Amino acid sequence: MKSLLSANSAPEQRKAGPLLAIASGKGGVGKTVIAGALASCFAARGERTLLVDGDLGMANIDVQLGLHPRGDLAGVMAGQISLAEAVSCVSGGADMAGGFDVIAGRSGSASLAGLDPAGAARLSAGIAAASMTYDRTLIDLAAGADRATIRLAAAADDVLLVISDEPTSLTDAYAFVKLLRLRDEGAAPFVLVNNATDEASAKMAYTSFSRTCESFLGFIPPLAGIVRRDVSVGKAIRQQTALNVSAPGSPAFTDIKAVAGFLAVGAETAYA
Ligand SMILES: Nc1ncnc2c1ncn2[C@@H]1O[C@H](COP(=O)(O)OP(=O)(O)O)[C@@H](O)[C@H]1O
Ligand SMILES: [Mg+2]
Repeated sequence: MKSLLSANSAPEQRKAGPLLAIASGKGGVGKTVIAGALASCFAARGERTLLVDGDLGMANIDVQLGLHPRGDLAGVMAGQISLAEAVSCVSGGADMAGGFDVIAGRSGSASLAGLDPAGAARLSAGIAAASMTYDRTLIDLAAGADRATIRLAAAADDVLLVISDEPTSLTDAYAFVKLLRLRDEGAAPFVLVNNATDEASAKMAYTSFSRTCESFLGFIPPLAGIVRRDVSVGKAIRQQTALNVSAPGSPAFTDIKAVAGFLAVGAETAYA
């Protein structure tokens, strides 16, 4: 399949679509799962979609989606290939809807982990340039709140903060938001509660998080949605297949579709 990046019209004829960063603070809460499934949902809604692995040092989108990228972000940062050459394609489901482009990272890459400020600025500019030919770009960020990660989040139009109902997830997410707002005081991330065993505890986690943000940071982060804990997610990863392909009717994918709908409408309002 031809990459959307090369198939698109000249950048000057298009306006870049919104850039959405998926963040969490804590690792293992489901950022990569959510980012991949959201990308397929935006694509199925008719948007040309790019997913960038911004997990500097522990990149794994390619592994989750069973891709064999011919190039990656580390190669771009080293000046070996162009961003266009780093693009891989994810095919859509049975009806071929939901296919999107991916720029993979490179796990353990020294050139990506521990980027200096100039390198982080170049990376951010490169992603912004790549996003010009897409209707929507998603960046799957690393866990933690290092300078390069906060910089990528601050450069995005929107941030989706993935949390779970575990206290460690809430404290790490709060630390992330606090640092993000030190860099970009207007930042107001959306919240997604993932891996929810029941609606009540997911809502309680969101309420506790939003109250802390309101008390100490002076803003209430909007809830983008709740994604249920679902065995289909682990199965899809073990099969290295996108969730929209392996389990399109699963509870988790149904919930993620609703989140994509919410974010798409929010973005249309913001970017009209
Ligand atoms: N909604 C869910 N239901 C069940 N398991 C999930 C769900 N979301 C994530 N997981 C599990 O959590 C693990 C970590 O997810 P991942 O997306 O790699 O986290 P992160 O990118 O935040 O480090 C996955 O391997 C998957 O098994
Ligand atoms: Mg990840």
